[in-house]
Amino acid sequence: MNTAYFTHTRSADIVLGIETSCDETAVGVVCGDKKILANVVYSQHAEHKKYQGVVPEIAARCHLQKCATVVQNALRMSNVHLCDITAVAAATGPGLIGGLLVGMQMAKSIAWSRNIPFVPINHLEAHALTARLTDNIPFPFLSLLVSGGHTQILQVNGVGDYRILGETLDDAVGEAFDKTAKILGLGYPGGPAIETRARQGQLGKIPLPIPMRGRKDCHLSLSGLKTRVRQLAQQQTTLKTTLTPTYVNNMCTAFQHSVAMSLQDRMVRAFAIFKHNTRLQNPSLQNPPFVIAGGVASNLYIRDILARCAEKHHFRFCVAPPSLCTDNGAMIAWAGIENIQTHDKMPLTTGLDTKARPRWRLEDLAHG
Ligand code: KG4
Ligand code: ZN
Repeated sequence: MNTAYFTHTRSADIVLGIETSCDETAVGVVCGDKKILANVVYSQHAEHKKYQGVVPEIAARCHLQKCATVVQNALRMSNVHLCDITAVAAATGPGLIGGLLVGMQMAKSIAWSRNIPFVPINHLEAHALTARLTDNIPFPFLSLLVSGGHTQILQVNGVGDYRILGETLDDAVGEAFDKTAKILGLGYPGGPAIETRARQGQLGKIPLPIPMRGRKDCHLSLSGLKTRVRQLAQQQTTLKTTLTPTYVNNMCTAFQHSVAMSLQDRMVRAFAIFKHNTRLQNPSLQNPPFVIAGGVASNLYIRDILARCAEKHHFRFCVAPPSLCTDNGAMIAWAGIENIQTHDKMPLTTGLDTKARPRWRLEDLAHG
């Protein structure tokens, strides 16, 4: 175990962040004053496309092949030398073990060779904190984290301090987009494909349910909606042998709308629960921030509906630009900075023996 003390000023931090938890090999360089010097992403979509989903073994091999080049490119773009970097952060979980090991090993090697701290980062925490990189968002805030692997509604009290108010009981929202796209023959990743086709369809042509509407808690469930799409698509193919482009467009419009309506309904519950929880600690909290994060947050239709809903319930709606919503290295570097600054003047444990944690709940962060 290796322990380092941070004695430099906050804005002088220059952190390299490495993200390899799924199918993006990504490296970012970010300063303590929130300047993003580089954010390079190599996306493995082409490698996984023919399997219509991420194949863990292929992902790990691809990270291994690309990681060093992506680090070099990020350093070149940022115009900083390795000796200017003050710490190296890497996603150490949750995610696919093979990919996590590649990114962590690269980060540890750089940290060890430069004698600077290695900062292990929870991938979900990095998504949750990204909006603080691009906006001035104080704690506590409410966050809807919607990615390919996770869907959670969080009360973010501080760095490392999360309370899960609601989460999916089955599929993550991004996963539901990906599986629905597969049913409709739209390939991988499904989210952007469905959003594009939804713009060309008509709302009201295909009725779909709005999952979990009216439930008192704020959990989500999307597998039933996806199954309904499958049943309707099967009925259609029996009638017509193939799905017509118009049918696919209308189905995408209906699916995206149902997801957005379900998220809206769940968030209205979460707004009330968040206000209740935080009123006890801070009775004067006005217009608290509501942040959406993760890959699905780049969907403009969902953003628009949630933005209007937030305004109606007196929350300040915040979302990072799309390139910072999907997996990227800048969010890992920024989470590194947030963790370093939280441990300011305290020893930050920089364990080169840190293990990857394929499963790692945000609520467990408080307990190490
Ligand atoms: O956060 P992310 O890049 O990776 C994970 O941590 O999972 O999220 C990827 C997910 C994929 O499921 C992808 O289909 C979805 O985000 N996604 C979208 C859009 N762009 C990406 N879903 C809906 N609409 C989009 N525009
Ligand atoms: Zn992610």
